[in-house]
Parts: sequence; C-alpha cells; structure tokens
Amino acid sequence: MWKGRFTRDTSSLVQQYGESVSHDWRLYAHDIAGSIAHARAQLHAGLLDADEFRSIENGLQEIGRDIAEGRFEFKTSLEDIHMNIEAELTRRIGPVGAKLHAARSRNDQVATDMRLYCREQCDKLATAVTGLQRALVDRATTAADIPVPGYTHLQRGQPVTVGHHLLAYVEMLERDKSRLADCRTRLNLSPLGSGALAGSTLALDREAVARELGFDGVTHNSMDAIADRDHIAELLFAITLCGVHLSRLSEDLVLWCTSEFAFVTLSDEHTTGSSLMPQKKNPDVCELTRGKTGRLIGNLVNLLANLKGLPLTYNRDLQEDKPPLFDSVDTLSLALAVNTEMIAAMEIRADRCRAAASDPMLLATDLADHLVRTGVPFRHAHELVGKAVGEAIRTATPLDQLDFASVDPAFADVPRELFSLDHALAARTTTGSPSPERVKAEITRWNSRL
Ligand code: ARG
Repeated sequence: MWKGRFTRDTSSLVQQYGESVSHDWRLYAHDIAGSIAHARAQLHAGLLDADEFRSIENGLQEIGRDIAEGRFEFKTSLEDIHMNIEAELTRRIGPVGAKLHAARSRNDQVATDMRLYCREQCDKLATAVTGLQRALVDRATTAADIPVPGYTHLQRGQPVTVGHHLLAYVEMLERDKSRLADCRTRLNLSPLGSGALAGSTLALDREAVARELGFDGVTHNSMDAIADRDHIAELLFAITLCGVHLSRLSEDLVLWCTSEFAFVTLSDEHTTGSSLMPQKKNPDVCELTRGKTGRLIGNLVNLLANLKGLPLTYNRDLQEDKPPLFDSVDTLSLALAVNTEMIAAMEIRADRCRAAASDPMLLATDLADHLVRTGVPFRHAHELVGKAVGEAIRTATPLDQLDFASVDPAFADVPRELFSLDHALAARTTTGSPSPERVKAEITRWNSRL
C-alpha cells in the first residue's frame, strides 16, 4: 500500500513483528461500517459516482459476510484488518476499490474503529453487569431477614443481614455501569476526516459521516483525534475496577464457604474437587476471578505506560493498545457470566449465618447507644461498655448475662430486648442501614431499576 518509494520488500521478520491482523480482525464489522460511511461521503463530495459507491458498498458488505462466516483468509503480509479488507475489496471489484482511501488514513480509520468497538463493549458489559446485579438481588431477596456478622479488620463488628451484604455489591456494580456509560458518552465523537493528522484537502461532510455511524458529533482537533486513546484507558479502568469489585466479592465467598464460616454452599457446578483429597470442594471460580483481576490491572497499566511517552500524533506504539483491551474485555465478560451463574446457584446457610451473628458481643455498641439515650456522653459510654466487655471475658460470662449494675450504676436498667438480635437489626432504620425492612425497600428499588 505504500511501495512507491521503496525498492525492497519488508523483511519477513518485520512483517511478523508488526502484523496486527491476528488480533485486530475483530474490528472488521466496525471497519466496514466506517468505510461505507466514508464512501457515502465521497459520493456526496463527487469523488465517487453512484455506481462506484454501490459497488464499494456491496463489496464491503460481502466481505463482512465472508468474515462473519469464517470464509475469509486473512494475510499477515497485509499487516492489519484495514489493509486486508481494502486489498480484498480491490481484488473483488477492481480499480474502483482503490478510490476508497481518498481523504482518509489508517490513522483516522483505526481511531474510528476503536471508538465504535469501545462503544459496543460499553453497552455489552453494562448488560452483563445488570445480569450479575439481578442474580445478587435475587439472592438478597431470600436473605433479607438472615442475620450475619458484619466485619471490620475481618473481626466481627456488628450484625447486618446477608441481604444487606449482597446489596453492597449491587451498589458497586451500579457505579461500574455509570463509569461505562460515562466513558461511552465521552468517546462518542467521530474522528473520521482527521486524515493522517492534518485533515484533508478533499472536504468530506464529517458531520454526515458521524450521524451515519451513530456518533453524537465530530472531534474538533485532527491531531488530538489521531493521538487520543483516552477512551481505551477509561474503558480499561472501568473494566479493571469492576474486576476489583468481583475480586472482593470472590474473597468474601472464599471465606464464606470455608468450614470455619460455612455461610454459603456453592453448587457442584461451580466448584472443583481435589485429585488427592477426596473430601475437598474448592471455590476455584472465586480464586480465578481474584487471579484474573491481576491481569486486568496489568492491562490498564500496560496502556498507560504505552501512552505516557508518546509525542503527537500517531506512533506505531499505539497499535499495542489492542491486545490489552481485547484481553480485558474478554476476561471481564467471562468473569461476569460465570459469577452470575455461580451466585444464582449459591445456597445461603441461614442457620450458620444466624448462629455467627448471635454472639452478644456484636451488640456492645448497641449497649453504648442505650447509655447515650439515658444521657451518658458517648466517649464515657464506650469506656463503661468496654469495662463490661472486659468483665464478661474475665468471668467467661456471655455479655447479655452479665450483672451490669455491678460494673457501673449507669447500667441501672438495660432493657432485656437490647440483646435480641432481631430487635437490634430492626432498630437500624435509616436509609442505607441493614434492617430487614430497609433491605426489602432497597430490593424493591433495585427490582424496579434493573
Ligand atoms: N494497525 C495500525 C494500528 O492499529 C493502524 C494504523 C497504522 N498507521 C500507520 N501510520 N502505520 O495502529
């Protein structure tokens, strides 16, 4: 495609080093859509006649079908998806195919393809995230009333409900979707017409091209449009943070399905056995999600490191933006699908959760709150309850059976229901709190939202 000024062929090692069609073939549908929109603009600018346009359009559509049906032979000697399609078009329809690249460069072409690809993936990933949210809300619905300890420092803190714990992940995933939507909004501008870096003397209607491709408008600086990979960085970050959320969920589940916690049982379909220890049932999906999240982080750092030293505008380094992006998209898509299936089939062991939450120590803060209600300043109340806790530990007495009056007269009349777990949970009534009533209200809110 550029051989005019060269007298020797590209070395086969350089071809091997520089080809990208082995991965960027995935952009074929976006590349073809961009080329058809570009050809239509050429038609309207008088660079193609109606027959020429029709033959380019039909040729491109046929190539698209052949690729979709696995009938297309990609050549690494043609380097990338753009040149593979264009060369094949010219082979099929003759010299008119060679007109298509007027007023265009692979630089604005790849920039366009990647925006179209990222936009599509923002939508697909958001749909997959919604699927996982629905599975979590469904599990939360069966567990809105089940008490479980809430932890800080992985030490039992205060009681919550399993439903509340699961809905925490629904919140995280909602922020992930809003990051995807935000990324989509910002990327949805057409760079076509930016040429290699400085536009073109052949004036095409950029706005019409943008409309045809579903963009909200056009980019306003040809140099920025060619060099910009912000949307890829943003999408990689949105993907990575979503992966981090899945990884934290995985860690909770790894703990929850130990014999020590035993709060949940994962289905046989989503666990593996040991080739040596017959009793084992391992949460491999959770561990893999945790492990694969490292890859997502690596892919994000990979792209940022690539961009940080690049002068304007296009540099071939930018071709390396695709493997990490494709890998992260694939990794998160599969992670979302498998986690959705696993959560949907997960059994919650209500008896074990309630037993763990029934430790009266979890209500020590409620006891301090009681003293506050009788007028004791919180810092003082905290100290008095601390003494009572110390006394309970020293005398091996369950906290709810301690003779509080002997610890301090401030404890004169501790109401008996203070140590009722259900009462304590029900008392947490403000928005965002774990009372079963609140959790059910949140479930209703999510059900109408998702
Ligand atoms: N395959 C290239 C990439 O992905 C397309 C752009 C090539 N541009 C160039 N000036 N060599 O970056």
